Order: sequence, then structure tokens, then C-alpha cells
Amino acid sequence: MAAKMRLDKLMGHMGCGTRSEIKKWAKMGLIVVNGTIMKDSGKQVDPEQDEIYLNGERIQYREFIYVMLHKPPGVISATEDHKERTVLDLLPEELKVFEPFPVGRLDKDTEGLLLLSNDGKLAHALLSPRRHVAKTYYAKVRGKVDADDVAAFQAGVTLDDGYMTQPAVLVIQAVDEDEDITLSDIELTITEGKFHQVKRMFEAVGKQVIYLKRLTMGSLRLDPSLKLGEWRELTSEELELLQEGTQ
Ligand code: URA
Repeated sequence: MAAKMRLDKLMGHMGCGTRSEIKKWAKMGLIVVNGTIMKDSGKQVDPEQDEIYLNGERIQYREFIYVMLHKPPGVISATEDHKERTVLDLLPEELKVFEPFPVGRLDKDTEGLLLLSNDGKLAHALLSPRRHVAKTYYAKVRGKVDADDVAAFQAGVTLDDGYMTQPAVLVIQAVDEDEDITLSDIELTITEGKFHQVKRMFEAVGKQVIYLKRLTMGSLRLDPSLKLGEWRELTSEELELLQEGTQ
């Protein structure tokens, strides 16, 4: 059973309004708890058991939110920044009141799947190096990616700081050999998350990532119907699978 909390605190947390607005609405008789008008917004309520209505609309309490964002390029994976746009700027106010944060980071120019949540426990489990949560990226790479690179990534490559990467699965999708420039389309699955890892892995084999998009994280897959900058909350199935994968 959830701990009781003040009605105005619960409603404020749900983005209903400020504490003084909620107090005023309570006085006006607009708040109903379990069928009874509640004039005192400071009363304790049970967030899970009590049925709370504001002006006829049910206020359903929940502690955590889980949002899948199709991150566009040009925004940073942070909650605030004094000069750059952040991924939080793409979410509406009714979600921002939950104070979500990006679960892991994508570079400013990287696109694709980014999970935003206020569930620190799940975030920690997904990001813990001990769990080896798999992440798959699609990349366009300058140069001819070949079987030697597949073998090198499988064995582990040495990054510029001397770090040896864990085995990674590289799949070559297409190689476009033009007169001037050769471009390769690949998918790479890694189970760790070092800074700029995918870009640095290709640098280690003398190639350059020119476009990067994350497709999966654990069991979670970017919804192809989400356009760049669009988001949606996870379905209960997606959330359950994600949680199961970190246990
Ligand atoms: N690897 C990178 O190089 N950049 C990202 O944004 C994610 C993984």
C-alpha cells in the first residue's frame, strides 16, 4: 500500500496546478475524493486507493513515467542546459512535472531511441556495466566495412584511450562503392556504453561514422511510426519486458 500524502501535493505532482490554485478549487467544491467534496486541500489521501476527481475529471496518480523518444539531431541528452536545446524541451509540460531524465546518452548528432523516465532504479539497471544490456545502432560509415572489421569487432578493438571493447556484433547491410567515396550501411550491437563508443570503434579500424541512429536498447525497439522528435509512453508490455530483462 502506498504511503498517504497531502491532496495538494499529489495533485501538484500530477501537474493539475499550483498549491494555491488547488486550495482555491477545493474551496469552490471542485475536488471530490471517494464521492465526497473535499474542501481542505491539505488532507491526507491514499494515492493508490482513493478516487480523486477535479472538476469531474479523474486524477490518476502514478509515480513513474516511461517515455520513448525518437531523438532528433541537434538536441542534447540532458535535462537542462544554458545554451543548447535538450531532449526535455521536446516533452509537454504534463510529462515534465514528473521530472524525467534521459536513461543514458546519445550524442548531439545521434538520432533514434532514447528512453526518458524518472525511475532511477530501472535507469540504473539498464545502464549498469554489469548487466551488459544490448544496444543496436544503424550507422552509415565512410569507407568499405568488411569481414575483417566484423572479426575485429567480435574480438574487441582498442579505443583511442587504450580501452579494449567487449565483443560486438557487426552486420554489413550494404556497401556502396562510388568513384569518389565508399559508404557502408551497417548495424552494430554493443553491450556497453563508453563515451562516443560506436564512432570510436570505427575510428579504431580507420573508418568514420557519418550518421548514427540507435534502434534498440534491451528489449525496447524504436517505434517506426514515431517521426524525429516524436515521443510516446511505453506500453505495459514494453515496460514489463524491459524490467524482466534487467532482473
Ligand atoms: N556511440 C556513439 O558514438 N554515439 C552515440 O551517440 C551512441 C553510441
